[in-house]
Amino acid sequence: MKLIWRQVILALCFLLSVPLALAETAALDKITPDAGDLASLQRGFALYSNYCSGCHQLQYVRYSRVAEDLSIPKSLFAENLLPKYARIGDQITSTMTKSDAKAWFGVVPPDLSLAASHHSPDWIYRYLQGFYQDKTRPFGVNNSVSPDSMMPNVLEHLQGGRQLRCEEAANAFNGKYSISTLLSDSKCGIVDGIKKGQLTDQEFKKVAYDIANFLAYTSDPSRSDRESLGLKVLLFIGLFVLFAYLLKREFWRDLA
Ligand code: HEC
Repeated sequence: MKLIWRQVILALCFLLSVPLALAETAALDKITPDAGDLASLQRGFALYSNYCSGCHQLQYVRYSRVAEDLSIPKSLFAENLLPKYARIGDQITSTMTKSDAKAWFGVVPPDLSLAASHHSPDWIYRYLQGFYQDKTRPFGVNNSVSPDSMMPNVLEHLQGGRQLRCEEAANAFNGKYSISTLLSDSKCGIVDGIKKGQLTDQEFKKVAYDIANFLAYTSDPSRSDRESLGLKVLLFIGLFVLFAYLLKREFWRDLA
């Protein structure tokens, strides 16, 4: 009997260690999306509309759904956030045609509705901060998180132009290392460049966070509904167990 208890306790410890280990990696990843932080999601949507929607669509999400989930009154939304060409029930699409995109960037900017589940919210957060100046690239910038990305740095005026500095600069570009191994070895880092941005580092991190948080929401819009429903279900089960127990006691009282 004792042995069984020991095994049960060991199994419980193991089960508990899994979420703890996951929380540990999440801490290393630096950001935790928060579907309940409506202010952040609203800012994220405004940033997406201003800076990303020209190139990237969110075709799996409709404007009306965003208005509803982010608690933005539909009339206010239609007046201020809805593009002139769209209706509130439409999917969030961009006006850029695929052939124009191919001609301008060589690739079609991907739909971002599922970007946060394809990569991770943290990847997007780092990607948006990972641009640095590189004259060899078509738009004068490269990205430390996705080397040779064809996306221009559309937030440069906010963040400022930044530079890549390597400790072993002599070895760095003679083909011995690729940029990504250098970055993962921490021999290179991105530092402030000459171009100043409108925001401080901290303020820009917040911008990147709000966009990543909003894209995490678009990749799973029903998450907060599901979580609140889950809580209700758990409460119901708890209450049910209590009543079942009281009933059992009532039935067994006369027999015992
Ligand atoms: C001027 C057009 C343009 C704008 C504006 C733009 N992007 Fe991009 N973006 C691109 C292109 C082109 C790529 C594809 C890069 C590649 O594959 O090399 C891309 C790629 C990405 C990727 C990587 C997707 C993947 O699966 O690899 C993310 C994430 C992204 N953009 C987010 C954003 C966000 C967030 C904004 C707004 C702040 C934004 N982009 C604004 C053109 C743009």
